[in-house]
Amino acid sequence: MVLVPRVVPGDLLRIDQLAKQRGVLRATAFAVIAPSPQRCEPACAVFDECGGCALQHWSLDRQLQWKRGQLARAVGLATEAIELDPVQPRGHRRRTRLHLRPRNRGLGAGFLRAQSDRLVAEAACAVLAPELEALRARAGAALGPYLDRGELHAVLGQQGVIADLTARHIGAEIPQAQVLAEQLGVVGLRLQIGRHADRWGLSEVDLAEVDGPLAVSTDAAGFCQASAEGNRALRRRVGEALDRLGPVQHVQEFYAGSGNFTGLCLQRGATVRAVELDVDAVRRLRRAVAAAGLQERVEVVAAQAERAADSAQPSEIWLLDPGRQGAPEVCAAAARLRPDGLVYVSCALDKLVRDIAPLLQLGWTVQHAALIDGFAWTIHLESVVTLRPPAVPVSL
Ligand SMILES: C[S@@+](CC[C@H](N)C(=O)[O-])C[C@H]1O[C@@H](n2cnc3c(N)ncnc32)[C@H](O)[C@@H]1O
Repeated sequence: MVLVPRVVPGDLLRIDQLAKQRGVLRATAFAVIAPSPQRCEPACAVFDECGGCALQHWSLDRQLQWKRGQLARAVGLATEAIELDPVQPRGHRRRTRLHLRPRNRGLGAGFLRAQSDRLVAEAACAVLAPELEALRARAGAALGPYLDRGELHAVLGQQGVIADLTARHIGAEIPQAQVLAEQLGVVGLRLQIGRHADRWGLSEVDLAEVDGPLAVSTDAAGFCQASAEGNRALRRRVGEALDRLGPVQHVQEFYAGSGNFTGLCLQRGATVRAVELDVDAVRRLRRAVAAAGLQERVEVVAAQAERAADSAQPSEIWLLDPGRQGAPEVCAAAARLRPDGLVYVSCALDKLVRDIAPLLQLGWTVQHAALIDGFAWTIHLESVVTLRPPAVPVSL
């Protein structure tokens, strides 16, 4: 096998030079002799240099079919059985981390070249929401007099964009956060430039697509699902998964964040034990639960999911949404404790395969799987997979 960058299935290639790197053969010089009909024009002017979207040159439809096949193989279902939620990639990202680096004798804001600490050339980002793209375009000029490198986290919520700036101070005296926020066009700004710390405006915004009973909010550097459209699809699929397993009395929710899926369980009449490690997310979730007067029905546990997954009650559904690290310990606990069903929301297919393998060995079955293409133009995919234990426990 030879790895060749930025080609698509059906390309006819001439490989001129190979190199072996860490046991893998890679083409270091090659030419596309006859391009595949699956190719398309990349949406972004700096596609060739940016380390962000790797698949812009491959037709979206083909990418989706490829991802569908990957998920089908991973969970052992027929490709046609995988339900699909495409997400239009243009302008969909509502959170970002912009790198601030020197560019053209000034300061630039944007993304880094692949495997480099240098920014790509100045160009509008095709995937950022217009409000975040406007922030990116303004940031270099607004911040250039005060810093030469840093990071700007930003998120777009119902109230507008809030940002969190950490940077190295050079040059001019730093104005108040409010002045910089107005120049950047954000409704809230927290900054740490060298030793200078300040904040102004909102520190959290709400996710507009979340309907009750719990409001879900996020700060600029915390976690929220990357796009409103993708999250709408995720929430619909998680709701359907709960209904398929229902009626649901009690849900053990792991990796609950600020409660994005907690409200879905409540809508179905369930009580919830929501486990989350991040203290800010826990605080936001507890606040939302109190504001809705639902303390009787939601227990928010600030703990590592791995540690919290050691008890199960009767008639219980487990809902987990780990990050890219996956949740092997939680799935191992499910194999031991045998809840009535498990809904796994995954953003890392390899970890999903690894984590559910012990359950499948014990006779669990994948009841349903949906693919949400929340990271279109990249190799990543999100999925909602529903598993049920065997009627009679299997011992190995
Ligand atoms: C993919 S996010 C999902 C959050 C939420 N379900 C949502 O949709 O917004 C994963 C969450 O797991 C939390 N987390 C990471 N490691 C954890 C651990 N070991 N135990 C519990 N929570 C953890 C993160 O803080 C983050 O909020």
